[in-house]
Amino acid sequence: MATVMIVGATRGIGLELVRQHAADGDKVVACARDTNAAEKLDEVAAGAGNIDIVQLDIADPASIEAAGKTVGDQPIDTVIIVAGVVGGAHQSVDDIDIEEWHRTLDANTIGPLLVARTFKPNLVASGKGNLMIVSSQLGASTWPMGGMYIYSSTKAAVGKVGKILSIDWAAEPIIISIMHPGWVQTDMGGPHAEITAEESASGIRKVIAGLTKEDSGNFYKWNGDIHPW
Ligand SMILES: NC(=O)c1ccc[n+]([C@@H]2O[C@H](COP(=O)([O-])OP(=O)(O)OC[C@H]3O[C@@H](n4cnc5c(N)ncnc54)[C@H](OP(=O)(O)O)[C@@H]3O)[C@@H](O)[C@H]2O)c1
Repeated sequence: MATVMIVGATRGIGLELVRQHAADGDKVVACARDTNAAEKLDEVAAGAGNIDIVQLDIADPASIEAAGKTVGDQPIDTVIIVAGVVGGAHQSVDDIDIEEWHRTLDANTIGPLLVARTFKPNLVASGKGNLMIVSSQLGASTWPMGGMYIYSSTKAAVGKVGKILSIDWAAEPIIISIMHPGWVQTDMGGPHAEITAEESASGIRKVIAGLTKEDSGNFYKWNGDIHPW
């Protein structure tokens, strides 16, 4: 039985990761921005005895620090940072919402670094920790479409955060990975997306299960292929 922390556990891919890990008997620390508005997560947790729900707003450093205190020093084998936002509707070069860009940077880029820093001791305590940051193919330099300045730039930056962490923590027993989860049928991906949340979450788990320290810093697709940067 492993202990797995899912950050952004209330909907979509994060909720599905909670469901799958709990069904396999893992202990799940499920982090929710608003624990009073986490009905789907509450439902999953009610039917399982192995899910702890912890308040964590990834855009709020004080909330991340408080979550660290709540979780304490228990070893955590895997932290998957799934939380992310699109960054609003005004993302064209002529109509950029600057305030929203700052807020999105907090959630998509800075928050993941603070989560990594806060739960580093828990990952080290596991002896073979995995930290995965869910980014997006829109953060890759190979993405062929324009627009989406806010989302794409904050996801590109968090990929770099993961890469730098893999260098800074090369001597630590922690494997860092960056993930494009696919185009997924969730609130964010919409109903016409290519794969289901179940397929994405299963793929993500399979990738993590196969990682070794030599893989630290790699950018993956949900199907296990390496994603070009
Ligand atoms: N779906 C896709 O096609 C796709 C493609 C590429 C990458 N991704 C990435 O995959 C990840 C998950 O996407 P999804 O499709 O599952 O999205 P989703 O259905 O929109 O769910 C987003 C999750 O992130 C949480 N979240 C947002 N802001 C947060 C904050 N400040 N603090 C804590 N949690 C926060 C949400 O919590 P609340 O319920 O509280 O809002 C929710 O649990 C995201 O990082 C996304 O960028 C998705």
